[in-house]
Amino acid sequence: MSRRVITIAELTAHAGEEITIRGWVYNWRKKGKLRFIILRDGFGYLQCIVFRPEVEDEVWETAVTLTQESSLEVTGTVVADERAPGGFELKVSALKALQIAPEFPIGKKDHGPDFLLNNRHLWLRSKRQHALMRVRSQVEFAIREFFQGRGYTLIDSPILTPAACEGTSSLFETEYFGETAYLSQSGQLYLEPAAAALGKVYCFGPTFRAEKSKTRRHLTEFWMVEPEVAWLRFDGLLDLCEEFLSEVVVRVLESCSEDLERLERDVSRLEPTTKRPYPRLDYAEAVAKLVELGSDIEFGEDLGGDDETMLTELYDRPLLITRYPAKVKAFYMQPDPEDPSRALAVDVLAPEGYGEIIGGSERSDSLEHLERKIAEHELPREAFEWYLDVRRYGSFPHSGFGMGIERFVAWICGVPHLRETIPYPRLINRLYP
Ligand code: 4AD
Ligand code: MG
Repeated sequence: MSRRVITIAELTAHAGEEITIRGWVYNWRKKGKLRFIILRDGFGYLQCIVFRPEVEDEVWETAVTLTQESSLEVTGTVVADERAPGGFELKVSALKALQIAPEFPIGKKDHGPDFLLNNRHLWLRSKRQHALMRVRSQVEFAIREFFQGRGYTLIDSPILTPAACEGTSSLFETEYFGETAYLSQSGQLYLEPAAAALGKVYCFGPTFRAEKSKTRRHLTEFWMVEPEVAWLRFDGLLDLCEEFLSEVVVRVLESCSEDLERLERDVSRLEPTTKRPYPRLDYAEAVAKLVELGSDIEFGEDLGGDDETMLTELYDRPLLITRYPAKVKAFYMQPDPEDPSRALAVDVLAPEGYGEIIGGSERSDSLEHLERKIAEHELPREAFEWYLDVRRYGSFPHSGFGMGIERFVAWICGVPHLRETIPYPRLINRLYP
């Protein structure tokens, strides 16, 4: 018996050969003297055929006891067959069950989201979740390639921090040897000093928001990629957002076509995003348009989720909304020189109702302005002294943005809720498993 162990992804190179594959029973069915076992090994799915007259009794005995998700080693001959999914089947000569699994909790019937989330560790084995995790991984890879290929330096920002970045209402607090620490809401404040050291930097890590909101767009723990660039002004930042999104979407469409097909994503809806320019609306234009469309938004207010959906329905690609009122945005933003009541802020809204995927801005380079903002936002000044040093020692214009990976993946994959886009979601009412 051959001892050559391969994965389902490598079958093409082994047509006609006898090989061994290790995996789990995804599904099985019987027909007279035949047993069809759909094996999955993490790389793909393969139909394995056991024919009673051609195998030892022992092999047949094992084949008939297999249950969904039993673990096994299968040896057989790789047969090319056009009708088979993936183009190959395995004619089984030997079978070794490592463990016969009891009834798998996730069956073919419909389960509610709570049940599936309680069994997230097992749910990951399903075809759909498998595809989602692969897309997520490719998205992260494409993002790293984008920045590394442009000379950015990765700066890993801390998770335990003494200060808030995005407002004090969504902070997770923890005792830290007699002091209070907060879980990071964003790496941005740590990237700004690093941009003075290295020019172009980015961070990519977990961030935390004690969001009280129980929406499909909010997680309490999510992964964010954040670039920060020295000397970059607001207009350049808008271009960077477009260049970043268009290029990452191109790469993901190239590398994930099979997974997106499995998710039944209509990729023609994503193609316009690969082309620039994207539509841009000044906040005042956006409000006027919304009022025209029947929204009750008033000038000066932040856009609501429904407002975002209404606007994005007008376009086939992401929409940039610029120059928000300073008072609805974070303390660190550069005021618009033409109207200081507005901030040089941008939100990028994904099409098809997916809402805000990117938030960014030019950063204030004035020590005096930031001191005033920190006081207005009632932030503890002592915790920000180090941040203010960026304006004391060689202040410089700089800009950056943050994109939540889960919102991006949800849009790319066309899934309505963020909970399926992260391996182990953390929600307001969920810490298990
Ligand atoms: O708009 P936000 O709060 O911006 C920042 O944190 C800036 N400091 C980023 C920067 O300029 N470096 O968050 C940025 C993005 C949002 O557009 C969204 O994609 C995601 O982070 N996000 C969330 N994703 C999932 N769950 C949540 N609760 C999220 N909050 C923000
Ligand atoms: Mg935002």
